[in-house]
Amino acid sequence: MKRVIIDTDTAGDDTIALFMALHHFQVEGVLITGGNVQFDQEVENALYTIEVAGKGGEVPVFKGHETPILQFGSEKHVTVEDVHGSDGMGGANFPKAKQQPKSEHAVDFLIRKVHENPGELSIMAIAPLTNIAMALKKDPTIATEIKEIFIMGGTNNYLGNITPAAEYNFYVDPEAARIVLHSGIPLTMVGWEMCTQYSVMNDQDHQDIEQLQTKGSDFFIKINEVVKEFNKAVHRLDGTTHPDTLLMAIAADEAVMTKSTNYYVDIETKGELTRGYSLVDINGRLEQPANVRVCEEVDRDRFKTALLNCLKEIQ
Ligand code: BDR
Ligand code: CA
Repeated sequence: MKRVIIDTDTAGDDTIALFMALHHFQVEGVLITGGNVQFDQEVENALYTIEVAGKGGEVPVFKGHETPILQFGSEKHVTVEDVHGSDGMGGANFPKAKQQPKSEHAVDFLIRKVHENPGELSIMAIAPLTNIAMALKKDPTIATEIKEIFIMGGTNNYLGNITPAAEYNFYVDPEAARIVLHSGIPLTMVGWEMCTQYSVMNDQDHQDIEQLQTKGSDFFIKINEVVKEFNKAVHRLDGTTHPDTLLMAIAADEAVMTKSTNYYVDIETKGELTRGYSLVDINGRLEQPANVRVCEEVDRDRFKTALLNCLKEIQ
């Protein structure tokens, strides 16, 4: 069983990704980073999700960086309550979890845990990469001791979601993404276009999920209320999107990813219109060595089955 640390800005699809991870992996810790919604709400969402999954008190949660590396003064990174609801949970306003976050900082936990288990731990990165980049800055020696990182972020020459050029996680903290992309750690990237092409759950899929009638399926339906409408109105997608859950399903079962290629990937940090744009050099024009395994095709049915199996188990 993979031993993993998850870095998440828990809201919306992050919660179902947590379900998926708790179902398949030995989760050694959950780190929270600033992203989707207000930071304390993200912490609360992670704790509550773990409780719903039946693992309350068993998986430690650590608060990390609330803001991107270069955020200054009263500047605020863009949050996306319009996508995930004011509470990041589709407006469900769940009760408070019993579990509390740990006092150790997420970055310190990550560094400590990696050194205690060299070569053993995989990181599931489903948020802006601030915490992971800051850990690499604080202690660069962890780079050779992290087994791999699966990154939900960026796009492979495709339309972004937060701007036309950029995907949200890379857009919020491009400097962090750049540090991680050039870390030398084995990386797998699942971009936004994999999510829109293969993970959209339409009305029929939602009915199949609702019919499971488990605590997990009920939770899934509730937290997806807002994103369904948002996707229709903004992305012109007929259903809910599950980028983080797709990443987790791939990490759990590589057969979900039916095609991938190693490419050189970098990120625009200065562009006037393109800050956060991920450059995937598919034609090798930059003559740089490949640094990322990029997911290019997914078995949608296999993903849906994995999702349903996971929600079925949460009774
Ligand atoms: C990413 O941004 C967040 O809103 C989602 O949770 C996902 O990690 C998609 O661009
Ligand atoms: Ca996320």
